[in-house]
Amino acid sequence: MEIREIRIENLDTQDFIRKKASELSSAVGDGLAVNALSGGVDSSAATMLGHRALGDKLKTYFVENGLMRAGEPERIVALFAGLGVPVKIVDARDQFLGALKGLTDPEEKREAITRVFYRDVFGRIVKDSGAKYLLQGTNYTDVEETVAGIKRQHNILEQLGIDTQEQYGYKVLEPLIQLRKSAIRKVANALGLPEEIYGRPPFPGPALAARVIGEVTPERVETVRKATTIVEEELSGSRAFQYLAILHQDRVTGIRDGKRDYGLQIEVRCWESKDAKEGSPTRLPYELLEKLSERLTGEVPGVVSVTYNVTRKPPSTIEAI
Ligand code: XMP
Repeated sequence: MEIREIRIENLDTQDFIRKKASELSSAVGDGLAVNALSGGVDSSAATMLGHRALGDKLKTYFVENGLMRAGEPERIVALFAGLGVPVKIVDARDQFLGALKGLTDPEEKREAITRVFYRDVFGRIVKDSGAKYLLQGTNYTDVEETVAGIKRQHNILEQLGIDTQEQYGYKVLEPLIQLRKSAIRKVANALGLPEEIYGRPPFPGPALAARVIGEVTPERVETVRKATTIVEEELSGSRAFQYLAILHQDRVTGIRDGKRDYGLQIEVRCWESKDAKEGSPTRLPYELLEKLSERLTGEVPGVVSVTYNVTRKPPSTIEAI
């Protein structure tokens, strides 16, 4: 890999911010740039850095792909408005869910999301706005895992030989690419973002689609969305690196009202990790696991089975697809 990592112990945040802001500003010059904010640590840091460097020359969009957590678009747009950064919501739900229809292979699902995001949604935004650059918060681990062939992270393009100028009509700017997540948290803090953003657990670019095994339909996303709300409510106090709910494809026999209910299975994962490269399952108290099982079977329609994953990464990965 040609990109040189800046390790957290060697990171001078103020110096980094100054350098990257100046690089962004000379790259964009008198032109216009756009960027997508998802509310995750990386895209939030890239957005703040971009606004510091480019001001009005950067337009920020929140892409509502129909795969986000409950209430997330409104919450993030309001939070950034409070920080003086205007964010426009782009409703692309039909485009993403349409492209995912009928797909079950994990790599094909990831490719469909990448294609809709970069070609359809941002291709159009760039054409309409006249922008020549897309700013995004790609991090060092994203590149490493994609190049290693583990899984294609949604935001890796040039490192896979994709010429974004030729294929989508814009150049990609990635000021955080030399940093891992823990270093990006430091930069996000130094940029004035609140702890609820810089301290957030990671959330994948393909959003809840990364947590639906098999076909991603609006109904199946809604199931995993409800499960995610419960898992996040119950596990946010655990201080774990990341916690998530996964909807399985196979059904299993359960009992409801004294009858067979051939129902859904939710898998809960909770990870200890430093930078997502390796991970181990959190040793959650059994009472908490029982509570999760009761809430998930009681509050998420159709769920009859809840499991807790006790596998390390590797051989597991953090997400399910
Ligand atoms: P895996 O599942 O590869 O995940 O062990 C490692 C970390 O990356 C997040 N993740 C993604 N982040 N785009 C992202 O921005 C993606 O396509 C993507 N896939 C996984 C995952 O949540 C974990 O923190």
